[in-house]
Amino acid sequence: MRVLLLHGPNLNILGKRKPEVYGHTTMKQTNDMVRARAEVLDCELVVFQSNHEGDLVDHLHRYLGECDGVVINPGALTHYGISLREALEAITVPVVEVHLSNIHAREEWRRLSVISPVTIGQVIGFGPHGYIAALELLLAYLADAQRVERG
Ligand code: DQA
Repeated sequence: MRVLLLHGPNLNILGKRKPEVYGHTTMKQTNDMVRARAEVLDCELVVFQSNHEGDLVDHLHRYLGECDGVVINPGALTHYGISLREALEAITVPVVEVHLSNIHAREEWRRLSVISPVTIGQVIGFGPHGYIAALELLLAYLADAQRVERG
């Protein structure tokens, strides 16, 4: 299985950015943690972060037909990133959305995710542990889908 782990704007400065909301774990520590879990689960993880929506879209295009699923924290693009949403829809593999913070317990405008309708589900509010849960849930979903296909 090949899974893309994508991070949107401002997530590269995790650890320094509002630690009272997003915690002290850095992006590198987060990625290392998820990579270690992916290795145990025999999954190839392709990690990418960008502060630019178009770069995330280009990255998804690069993996059209070349990956089995996506775990993404879209950052602020969650709330308005229509071209990112459409790229996630175009890639036609299961997508899990992750948020470090509980977006429903914060400002009103954070409650709307334009990404959620094209995902199989969300893991919200568990800090960096959410990425590991999302990877495990995605792989379980893919294993179920394979079983159904095989009959
Ligand atoms: C976030 C929540 C978003 O509202 C915010 O813009 C982020 C981080 C989260 O992980 O909690 O950049 O996606």
